[in-house]
Amino acid sequence: MKQIFLFLTALLFTCCSSDIEMKAETTSANHGKTLVAYYSYTDNCRSIVTELTNQIEADVVEITPVDKSQKYEENGYAIGTALLNAIKANPNDASSYPAIDPVTVSLSDYQNIIVVTPLWWSQMAAIMQTYLFGAGSQMADKSFSMIVSSASSGISGVVSDAKRLVPEASWMGDALWINNSNRRNTASLIEEWLKTLNFTEGQTTTNKMYITIDGKTQSVTLVENAATHALFEKLQQAPVSITLNSSGGFEIWGPLGFSLPENDQQTTAQPGDVILYNGSNLCLFYGTNSWSYTRLGKIDGLSESELRTFLKAGESNIGVVLSLDNSAAIKEVKSNGSEDGTYYSVNGQRVQNPTHGIYIKNHKKVFL
Ligand SMILES: Cc1cc2nc3c(=O)[nH]c(=O)nc-3n(C[C@H](O)[C@H](O)[C@H](O)COP(=O)(O)O)c2cc1C
Repeated sequence: MKQIFLFLTALLFTCCSSDIEMKAETTSANHGKTLVAYYSYTDNCRSIVTELTNQIEADVVEITPVDKSQKYEENGYAIGTALLNAIKANPNDASSYPAIDPVTVSLSDYQNIIVVTPLWWSQMAAIMQTYLFGAGSQMADKSFSMIVSSASSGISGVVSDAKRLVPEASWMGDALWINNSNRRNTASLIEEWLKTLNFTEGQTTTNKMYITIDGKTQSVTLVENAATHALFEKLQQAPVSITLNSSGGFEIWGPLGFSLPENDQQTTAQPGDVILYNGSNLCLFYGTNSWSYTRLGKIDGLSESELRTFLKAGESNIGVVLSLDNSAAIKEVKSNGSEDGTYYSVNGQRVQNPTHGIYIKNHKKVFL
């Protein structure tokens, strides 16, 4: 167990409504790189967090309702139902969410966020929704995942709630579902799940790369090896533009234009995998294939069908830009009507003599 208990007192979060208060109770003396945020009414999620923190180093924050007298299970779970109906009726209104105690943890200290939440009526428990409604916008570009505990119901509704409340986070991998029939295997389920996540303890933003195709940018969590170190160094000098082609119904691939150190291993590449092939070719997977590859990382948070769209599956001559600058992930460039060829930084400042990097020109992102 790597937890050290500490109670933080400074209030660092302010919520968008004074009706919602948040309480801090974190469990590490150091600012770890991973934050586990959980809510638990009947202790199942609490046990999951105990097991999770046996396996990873993380700070823990418990989200608690202001009103601790509620018996959510009484009258056929009537209170739980009412809370969720209020959110459903007005999901953008802070007053729709049940009040929680103040949370005083600074999200800027963390790169990875793992939410552990119960399922209520096939949705995310209302108390956890309150926390993410207030804090979700500060989780943009964090590596995010979730463990959902239910009696038996499937968790797709909870995943949808998380995507609504934390729309900009990069998913490290699929959420883990623990229910009454597999709960006794919690330790091994978490162990296996962590392996699928590309979860790296002590992860920093330096293990992120960004892929831009047709103006859309997705983050990639890089694994730790000689190839990714060399790639990272290369991208520190300038973004790399390459042309890839669809192949085999499972990937787009093509030459990088330079070589990286190989550490090939027989691998079954999965959708989202970013792979080095033969030392100097990049493969981006939307399907699966077994071969001897060097793994570079994984595109964060896209489903298989979203990957097919993003990677332009089936097409040829696909222009792909690799970079380290997530400001390339800006979704839209607003037009002021003029297209005079002036270069602007991604912060909107005019640039007289652009060198290497990402700029806005004629309302479009350009890579020099
Ligand atoms: C208000 C409420 C609604 C629930 N709705 C469901 C449900 O629709 N399906 C289900 O499988 N479990 C449901 N449950 C059970 C919880 O998801 C499950 O017991 C979970 O493990 C509780 O986590 P906790 O002990 O950390 O609070 C509900 C529980 C509550 C309190």
